[in-house]
Amino acid sequence: MGLVITVFPAQLQTGWMHGGKINRLMRVEGAHDSTSKDLESFAAESDLKQIEIGHQCGQDGQMGHVIGMPAQSDPSQMDSECYPALIVPAIGTWPRFDSPLRLGVMASGTGTNFEALHNAIACGDLDAQINVLVVNKAGCGAHDRAERLGIHCELRDHRLFASREEMDHDLVRTFQNEGVEAVVMAGWMRIVTPVLIDAFPGRLLNIHPSLLPSFKGMDAIGQCLSSGVTVTGCTVHEVLNDVDAGPIVAQAAVPILSDDTRERLSRRIQVQEHRLLPWATALAGQRWRTAAATQG
Ligand code: GRF
Repeated sequence: MGLVITVFPAQLQTGWMHGGKINRLMRVEGAHDSTSKDLESFAAESDLKQIEIGHQCGQDGQMGHVIGMPAQSDPSQMDSECYPALIVPAIGTWPRFDSPLRLGVMASGTGTNFEALHNAIACGDLDAQINVLVVNKAGCGAHDRAERLGIHCELRDHRLFASREEMDHDLVRTFQNEGVEAVVMAGWMRIVTPVLIDAFPGRLLNIHPSLLPSFKGMDAIGQCLSSGVTVTGCTVHEVLNDVDAGPIVAQAAVPILSDDTRERLSRRIQVQEHRLLPWATALAGQRWRTAAATQG
C-alpha cells in the first residue's frame, strides 16, 4: 500500500516528476471545486492507472494526519522516499503578472533546482522566463541540463577572477545585459558580495537545505544529523550581506527518521526544495512587481 495524500495539481506534477509514489488522491469535498475537477481530468488523462480520486469524509476535525488515510494502510510500508513534508506552504493560486518575471539563475551543482524552476514555468505554474543560467563549473549538471532544455547558459569560472567582487561585477553586467529583473541562486556554492546583492536589492533569492536560522553554512544536512534535531527542511530567503541570512520567503519542514542517512534525508529535502523554490519565486515576484508598480 502506498501513501495516500491530499494533493493539488501543482503538487501532483512535482510529485510525479520526482518519482513520488502517490497512488491515491484525496480531495476535500466542496472546498476546491475547480482544483478537484483538474485533478480528475489529470487522473483520467494520465497513464498512471493506479491513480484513484477519493473523497474526504467531511468530519469536522482531522487528526492531524494525512486526510483520508485508509484503515488498511500499513505504516511500516510507508515509503520514506515519499514521506510527506511535515509542513509545506499551501500552494494556492499561482500569481499572474503583466509579463513573465525575467529571471537569472545561478547554479554550481547538479542543477535539479534549476530544472524544477524550468519545469514550473513550462507547465504554466510559475509565470516567468529564465533569461540566462550562470554556472561556475564547466560541465556541471546544471550546465548539461541547460543544454538539454535549450536555456541560454553562461560559464563564469570563479578561478579566473582576481576577487569575488570582480566576479560579481561581471555577473551584474551579464544579468543586466540579459534583461534580468531578479536572480535565483539555485545551489550556488560561492559567497556573493554586496556588488551583486546591492544590484538586486530584495531581488536575489537563495535556497538552503535547512530551516534557517538553524544550520547555516556548509554541510547543513550533516550539521542537522549530528545535532539530534528531529525536524529539518529547506528555506528560500532573500540574500543579505551575511551567509544564509535574510528575510525568509518560504520554508518546508521535513521529518528526520530514526534510521536516516545523509543521502536519504538529502533526497527528501530536495523533493521539497523542488516544490518550494518555484512557489517562493512566485511569492517574491508578487512583491517585486508590486514594488516596481509603486515606484512608477
Ligand atoms: C540544494 O540542496 C540547495 O539547497 C543547496 O544546494 C543544493 C543544490 O542542488 N543550496 P541542485 O544543484 O539544485 O541539485
